Amino acid sequence: MAYLNDNYLKLQAGYLFPEIGRRVKAFCDAHPAGAQRLIRCGIGDVTEPLPPAVVGALHRAVDEMASRATFKGYGPEQGYEWLRAAIAQHDYRDHGLEVADDEVFVSDGSKCDCGNILDILGARNRIAITNPVYPVYVDTNVMAGHTGGANASGAYSRIVYLPCRARNGFVPEPPRRAVDVVYLCSPNNPTGAAMTRDQLEAWVKYALAHNALLLYDAAYEAYIAEPGIPHSVYEIPGARDCAIEFRSFSKNGGFTGTRCAFTIVPKTLLASTRTGERKPLHPLWQRRMTTKFNGTAYIIQRGAEALYTPEGRVQVRALIEQYMGNAKILRVGARRAGLKVFGGVNAPYIWVRTPKGVTSWQAFDKILGDANVVITPGSGFGSKGEGYFRISAFNSRANAEEVADRLKAMAW
Ligand code: MLT
Repeated sequence: MAYLNDNYLKLQAGYLFPEIGRRVKAFCDAHPAGAQRLIRCGIGDVTEPLPPAVVGALHRAVDEMASRATFKGYGPEQGYEWLRAAIAQHDYRDHGLEVADDEVFVSDGSKCDCGNILDILGARNRIAITNPVYPVYVDTNVMAGHTGGANASGAYSRIVYLPCRARNGFVPEPPRRAVDVVYLCSPNNPTGAAMTRDQLEAWVKYALAHNALLLYDAAYEAYIAEPGIPHSVYEIPGARDCAIEFRSFSKNGGFTGTRCAFTIVPKTLLASTRTGERKPLHPLWQRRMTTKFNGTAYIIQRGAEALYTPEGRVQVRALIEQYMGNAKILRVGARRAGLKVFGGVNAPYIWVRTPKGVTSWQAFDKILGDANVVITPGSGFGSKGEGYFRISAFNSRANAEEVADRLKAMAW
């Protein structure tokens, strides 16, 4: 007899975005005219083409693969040395942060890394997760058997939820009780809030005091616009002893379909064995990568490398400015529509409070039906997201302007 992983049966409904896709399809089938004018501001998926520097590098790499002399088979599982070096240099050492080339692990996505990291962490960790949250952190812990079942409001037992509300600026505070692993995402998906240096320092202090591990998701780092917001957890002294950082080329280089990201695992980072011995995590992640992964495609890594060239950097900046220009238009539009608006300053997401008495899914249905715009219901990110919805700024400028106008025209 084959047994399934019972933990999967604990998962609540479907993953958020497929569920949105299902509802949008049903709407489009029933309303062909609405489908014609549909604008998607739901999933945070980039819309603009890859930067020309990347396209050139991809073409050159394809040509290399077409010639016996330059063809590449399996590459290093952790990424080619030249890409690891470019990342460590430009994203860290150029900013005075200590990260060695071999502490960089190149992968095919931060979503995968955030889930896969659980392979090297024990099942008895007490996990703290913000509410609302990027659903991948929760679901992968459920799949790995790190939680109990869910209650009526969708909260899993054995997870410590850190509420993020307007009154704490949607930034979690360290809990009074001890937890072992904490997921932090800054700038935040879904709320768009970014942690200040003081707030991140408090977390590093907490982690060091409790021998806890911070899983720091910095996928939206490139969107930070305000001074005083850390771009990396390693800006905080002590973080090399308590934090893993995830970064992605998806949202800065437009790689959501191209797939390339990286994770930093400092060699100084330790975690406990069952018997209480402290051991480094770096060799475990290295072992996990070499056993379960055969590396990101050579062609794609060459494309990612091009993001660090002078022209690549200029082109990335232009992409970010395009999306952040949209964020401003959407923020102003939603505010003029009489809605209370958060985020959208250091992140490409606008977090909007629904009008009084309107639930997140009711807002989703109304905005879809009246404005033919797809947003993401806040409750899909956790119970504390109820009463909010998220607008993604990843779109063309024309679409962002149109969405702002349609929101203003809506009558709640
Ligand atoms: C989102 O919309 O929350 C993101 O696009 C999801 C992701 O990056 O995986």
